[in-house]
Amino acid sequence: MPIHFDPQVDEILDHVDDSLDAGTFPVSVLTDKGLFDRELERIFTRAWVYVGHESEITSRGDYVHRYIGKDAFVLVRGEDDQVRVLFDSCRHRGALICRAEKGNASHFRCSYHGWTYANTGEMTGAPMFRKAYGSMDKSKWGLIQAAHVENLHGFIFASLDPEAPTLEEYLGEMKWYFDLVYGQLKDGWEVIGEPMRSIVHANWKTASENFGGDDYHTMFLHKSLTEVNLTAFYMDDTRAPLSVMHVLAGNGHSIALDVRPEDDGKGFWMWPNGEELYTDALGEELYDTARRTASHVGTIFPNFSILGFPLQQTVESGPVAMHVIRVWLPRSPTELELINWVLVPKGLTEEQKTEAARSALATFGTSGTFEQDDTEPWEAVARTSETAFAKKIDMQLNYQLGMPQNGTAISRQGDEILSGPGIKYFPAFEEGLLRGFWRRWVQFMRPGDYPTTMTPAEQDGERG
Ligand code: FES
Ligand SMILES: [Fe+2]
Repeated sequence: MPIHFDPQVDEILDHVDDSLDAGTFPVSVLTDKGLFDRELERIFTRAWVYVGHESEITSRGDYVHRYIGKDAFVLVRGEDDQVRVLFDSCRHRGALICRAEKGNASHFRCSYHGWTYANTGEMTGAPMFRKAYGSMDKSKWGLIQAAHVENLHGFIFASLDPEAPTLEEYLGEMKWYFDLVYGQLKDGWEVIGEPMRSIVHANWKTASENFGGDDYHTMFLHKSLTEVNLTAFYMDDTRAPLSVMHVLAGNGHSIALDVRPEDDGKGFWMWPNGEELYTDALGEELYDTARRTASHVGTIFPNFSILGFPLQQTVESGPVAMHVIRVWLPRSPTELELINWVLVPKGLTEEQKTEAARSALATFGTSGTFEQDDTEPWEAVARTSETAFAKKIDMQLNYQLGMPQNGTAISRQGDEILSGPGIKYFPAFEEGLLRGFWRRWVQFMRPGDYPTTMTPAEQDGERG
């Protein structure tokens, strides 16, 4: 039965849309309870979301416990070697079937009455089955599974909506950038250790939009880090956005890249054994761009963010590329669970892996320097959003950076440096990527069929 929404919600979405056209955003919308509930239904049961990396479940029976929105799932490699995303909910009364964070199991047994399921999701039995259930058809009572599961370069995504497009269609222009960052290692990537988890008292969208194109904060909020030289290799000075290009990739996705005009040794290849790690199997264009790309940070709508850049721990030490991926799980309008994985190329030496993981933990681990910087203001934003006064006056935030009426000379060019698709803004003193994230959010929140493709131009505010 379709769910009917409060018409007032649609008026709010219209208001957000109009505000974005003016380069503003009504702050109270961020943590609205009604909208939060609707996000869980309209966004998280439909969008493609990241659930885990194949290196976490390499053997048959390996599983990890994951969430899509607030709903629990088990990402598992079945006995048949197929990867599935099983709804963690017993078909008998709905109790949980998985009580561990990770493990290896041929079967999951519900702790309530003992119904048992194979790691492929099939129901295999229940206590006193013949006496209790006679000839009940077990094949009708297997665990419910995500409608779609796809693996792109080892990264596993799922969508709970049978109507969802393929992952490739969903990524749209972002696929080119995903290939750029993750598709060119000969041996692929692996996750090091367990994903770190922490609670941030902020709204999940604040984190998604920050990673989706808020380079403007780096030179101020993170200034102290450049002063202690932690990032000296990456940031030639404290004006990092000057060397960063913003790419609006459509469908709510965006990425910021530091693409150098020439290969200056600061690109993805920066490890001493870089030449051995990479392959040009995806073509010369991506291969060449990777050589020249020193950093990337981006968001795949709705709540998956990627980040990598070279770091140097001391003046003497050489650079180390740190890579993290993160999911911003919605827990309440003012609370997100930050899940953070450290990634390394499989082809690195053990010593290099340790060094790369250490750099990642020092910066974007739970107590990492950047993480501490970032999460404090995110929490303050949520507090503002909740205030009665902001609601009373419909307080509008300024999202006008880079808009023509703001008088800034933002260029939409950059093709000579970066051949990839999407709308490119250079330098990165602009907030079109953030407005684009919110436009896709509005589109997903509307009632109706699965949201159609949103082109970069539409995300940029051009109406069809
Ligand atoms: S709820 Fe799972 S066996 Fe009864
Ligand atoms: Fe930051």
